[in-house]
Amino acid sequence: MILPVIMAGGTGSRLWPLSRELYPKQFLTVTGELSMLQQTVTRLSGIEHTPPVLICNEEHRFIAAEQMRLGGFKHGGIILEPVGRNTAPAIALAALQAVNNAANDEDPILLVLAADHVIENIKAFEESVEKALSFAADGKLVTFGIVPSAPETGYGYIKSGRKEGNAFAVSEFVEKPDLKTAKTYLASGDYYWNSGMFLFKASRYLEELAKFAPDMLDVCKRAIAAPSQDLEFVRVDKSIFETCPDDSIDYVVMEQTDGAMVVPMDAGWSDVGSFSALWDVSVKDKNDNVIKGDAITVDSKNNYLYAEDKLIATVGVNNFVVIQTKDAILVADKDKVQDVKAIVNHLKESG
Ligand code: GDD
Ligand code: MG
Repeated sequence: MILPVIMAGGTGSRLWPLSRELYPKQFLTVTGELSMLQQTVTRLSGIEHTPPVLICNEEHRFIAAEQMRLGGFKHGGIILEPVGRNTAPAIALAALQAVNNAANDEDPILLVLAADHVIENIKAFEESVEKALSFAADGKLVTFGIVPSAPETGYGYIKSGRKEGNAFAVSEFVEKPDLKTAKTYLASGDYYWNSGMFLFKASRYLEELAKFAPDMLDVCKRAIAAPSQDLEFVRVDKSIFETCPDDSIDYVVMEQTDGAMVVPMDAGWSDVGSFSALWDVSVKDKNDNVIKGDAITVDSKNNYLYAEDKLIATVGVNNFVVIQTKDAILVADKDKVQDVKAIVNHLKESG
């Protein structure tokens, strides 16, 4: 049986000022009626699974719990990280907890999902998971590959090797290459984007971590050895977890393991990491403007306009992002929105 693990501890800094430290992207409703977290849980309905485990920052526990309740979703616990140490330790905590809780020495197969993706074609998503299942049961670490459409530098790139049934061996995994490298990968036609979703046995992930990051695994083991459980929350030891190295599954495990496979996924996937990605997946008016809230456009095309409680009016501007919230206004070139992160860093530095 599949045990979904939903990672919901990111900060979504490229979607500032919509996404805030106190209320990051995965809890926002950016497309449709449900929040991104709720959409992630809903997406599982056609897959046989045990109730998903959530892992997020302690600060967001009430938002996460409330969104699960409002969605009417059962869950198998919300693991709380006292500090963020990126995805490799987060998944380790979930894998350790899954192994601890499993009955009869069962080795659960984890479907690791990000809480902040949009997937348009749920059927195709289900089919890819179905195809991946036998490989995961066989001890492979499966990732889902997306055919790339641009030389994005914010993604992992997977070079597919030997074909085995519905999947390919991973002959190379490169996390976040520079632009020049990404361009050559795109041109070669041999690479997929890493979707950031994974399927593997809990024990296999832990084995790989023991190989490539024994210190990290050791800290995670000690941090969750005696978890305190109150309400639906599973708390790990703060003073121990604070000492954990900070790294992602992509760098620590996927780039180094020789047990990786890739199953292609053509499901209208987007990680809505930036306002241009958000524009891509949103409903547009006849001038290709996405308008959220109150806005009037005159002679303006291809814009993303978000007005929280004021009117936005544009005249003769194309390809702009304008975001108005109660305490901040962002105006950006839609082709440069990856750099919104720099504003967040600047704000952090200036306190
Ligand atoms: N619990 C927890 N703790 N979750 C986290 C943490 C953490 O410390 N850090 C990030 N996450 C969650 C995020 O909320 C998101 O759902 C997911 O883990 C992935 O983290 P990102 O920070 O968004 O990663 P990324 O987008 O830079 O890169 C990953 O995803 C790409 C596709 O979207 C990588 O897997 C890339 O290879 C991949 O292409
Ligand atoms: Mg992401």
